[in-house]
Amino acid sequence: MSNAKLEIEGKTIELPIIKGSENEVGLDISKLRAETGVITVDDGFVNTGSCESSITFINGGEGILRYRGYGIEELAEKSNFEEVAYLLINGELPTSAQLSGFKAKIAEYSTIPVEVKNIISSFPPEAHPMAVVSSAMVALSAFYPELQKGTLTEADTEKVIPLVMGAMKVIAAANYRHSKGKTTGTPNGKYNYAQDFTNLMFDKVDDDIARALDVLFILHADHEQNCSASTVRVVGSSRANLFASVSAGINALWGPLHGGANQKVIEMLDAIQNDGGDYKKWLGKAKDKSDPFRLMGFGHRVYKNFDPRAKIIKKACDTILNKLGVQDPILDIAKGLEEQALSDEYFVERKLYPNVDFYSGIIYRALGIPTHMFTVMFALGRLPGWVSQWKEMIESPNLKICRPRQIYTGSKLRSYTGIESR
Ligand code: SDX
Repeated sequence: MSNAKLEIEGKTIELPIIKGSENEVGLDISKLRAETGVITVDDGFVNTGSCESSITFINGGEGILRYRGYGIEELAEKSNFEEVAYLLINGELPTSAQLSGFKAKIAEYSTIPVEVKNIISSFPPEAHPMAVVSSAMVALSAFYPELQKGTLTEADTEKVIPLVMGAMKVIAAANYRHSKGKTTGTPNGKYNYAQDFTNLMFDKVDDDIARALDVLFILHADHEQNCSASTVRVVGSSRANLFASVSAGINALWGPLHGGANQKVIEMLDAIQNDGGDYKKWLGKAKDKSDPFRLMGFGHRVYKNFDPRAKIIKKACDTILNKLGVQDPILDIAKGLEEQALSDEYFVERKLYPNVDFYSGIIYRALGIPTHMFTVMFALGRLPGWVSQWKEMIESPNLKICRPRQIYTGSKLRSYTGIESR
């Protein structure tokens, strides 16, 4: 690749250009500060790449999402969550023996220490599940001191990855049952991940519900350097353990601009329904700069076209609700809102389309998941993505602690004055 020339502060330097396997072009500025004393500044990292990665590819302009080169549409239709998790973490689709071994490991670790169960039940029943799940996840590290190292042996990695996956579904379901005044459910290794999650939640397994969850987990499994995956990488870059890194990712996902949006979408659609279904009024609020309201589930930092996941989930809404015999009027409100927004200049000009969170809550609600648990469902699906990003980072030969610079804009040097003279 050729270099880019940069002329700054009277100096001209050459910076290498990096080209990815899908022809994305990046400027390698690793020598910039050493050679010029100058840094770059980029609010929200809109234009900044944090790493090179071979896990997930997104083409935001064309609405393309691939895990390790496989299209999301094909994986959602033909694969299953454990197989996709294996693919993300290991880079290849598993053989039958590899998949059975991976599933068996997850089943082996689908349990949590009684002390962690006590932490979950020490929360008020109405506590937001994301607070409980992130607390329980980092608490797990106390029971596996040998896995608290940031630099794991291969054997450690082989253990800690299925362990966090197995424990996560137990923690999520245990918190739900605590909120209902019930004791923790009993995992069953004969079930797949989604089936066992519904077993842990409801003491029963409905194959239609489990398959719907399986597909939703696949669709949420990874999304390259999103806010929560970047958080997992930043925390893991200090060599903090996987439990702590995942717990940090759960907390980043909680925000309403990120994974927390799926809960906000349902609350928004319910509010519109209670307001007589007048979604044109709400679209007006979303466009009004003086109104803090945003159309939740719309817009994306990368997708400037349909989020392919939203297209799949929208289709699945009709299928699953019909299969379950569920009528939910907010599905029609969501469709009307989407149709109106997609023909509105404000949204068209800004390339704002429905994202993964716009329709997912309608399915979660039909499956009996409480609204304030929707973002936990997102976290369950995203876990293998966070783990694969963390693994790729700690295995990188040039792993460096993430420590950005800044441009200081505060006071210049001044002397201390005693309180009597202030
Ligand atoms: C996820 O990054 C990932 O990959 C995330 C994710 C994943 O899988 O990990 O895909 C999951 O987090 C999806 C996004 C869920 N969040 C929401 O649905 C919340 C609502 N959406 C927005 O807040 C917003 O669209 C973001 C946060 C998603 C993206 O914000 P950006 O990229 O910082 O864009 P921006 O805020 O600079 O918006 C650009 C313009 C602005 O208007 P102008 O100042 O140019 O006039 O578009 C407007 C914004 O006001 N805008 C919206 C809007 N989203 C953007 N206006 C109304 N409603 C919206 N939803």
